[in-house]
Amino acid sequence: MQISSNYISLQAVKYLLMLLLHTKKDLKDSLQSLLSSTKALGLVPTMGALHSGHISLIEKAFEENDTVVVSIFVNPTQFNNPEDLEKYPKTLDNDIALIKNVSNNIIVYAPSVKEIYTEKVESEIYDFEGLDTVMEGEFRDGHFNGVGTIVEELLTSVQPNRAYFGEKDFQQLQIIKKLVQLKKIPVQIIGCPIVRENNGLAMSSRNARLSQETRSKASFIYFILKEAKIKFGTKSALEVTNWVKNQFKKNKDFELEYIQISDIETLKSVKRKSKNKKYRAFIAVFADDVRLIDNIAL
Ligand code: PAJ
Repeated sequence: MQISSNYISLQAVKYLLMLLLHTKKDLKDSLQSLLSSTKALGLVPTMGALHSGHISLIEKAFEENDTVVVSIFVNPTQFNNPEDLEKYPKTLDNDIALIKNVSNNIIVYAPSVKEIYTEKVESEIYDFEGLDTVMEGEFRDGHFNGVGTIVEELLTSVQPNRAYFGEKDFQQLQIIKKLVQLKKIPVQIIGCPIVRENNGLAMSSRNARLSQETRSKASFIYFILKEAKIKFGTKSALEVTNWVKNQFKKNKDFELEYIQISDIETLKSVKRKSKNKKYRAFIAVFADDVRLIDNIAL
């Protein structure tokens, strides 16, 4: 039997070894050639410097899809602090090794800034109906317009059935759900639980910038969140947030930026508790000049 070259190339991509792509065109061509063998396509957007938190998203994407794209792109428009952007770790080789541990059958999309922002490195302006003006939005000007711009671009290029985001950035997750609703993008947004270090510190690419000592002391953040959760059973949101502020005043290792208890749908600060609403406590803290965020379901 004569095997056509088309047949061979299709078979080759069906059992592809990890593909590392840098351009929209290569991405489009590869996804096109995989179309017939893909029942469900999953996307995991990241900025690289991968850790077990990211890997948990990739594993979840593999449980639910047969083809998975992981994007690695340090998106300049979502950084309000140029130093933070400059210091953001870039560890592509290590990221690829970690991804290969999950599966060889995966597309890694790592475009350049020029590839994404052809002309101007600028965000689109969105109306996220107030979800973007509190907490991270209040302290990181323009951050969510930057996130919206890159996520919309990735969803449009990849056209996944499902896209995976961590509850570590719970506000971001809610904003992305709003984005796909506003822009009518046909994708299911899946939220994944926070992965923590053994001491409870939420995993983050920024943890690598902490000294060993501070990294170990930073267990304090999750400890306080867990205590806040217990207190919220009997106390008001104001009493709980005041208690948290006091704990941080007494601890000189950290500088509290905000603590807020919010309705998970509106992200607005809770005034009065209601039985049929769900709440979360959100926190941002500086340690060793590194900004750490975390949150907990109450
Ligand atoms: P990044 O910080 O690299 O995170 C990529 C994804 O991993 C996000 O959805 C984030 O919430 C999730 N994540 C990070 N730490 C986690 C942890 N400890 N447990 C569970 N999930 C975790 O978030 C971004 O990149 C960017 O804003 C991005 C969405 C890629 C747009 O540029």
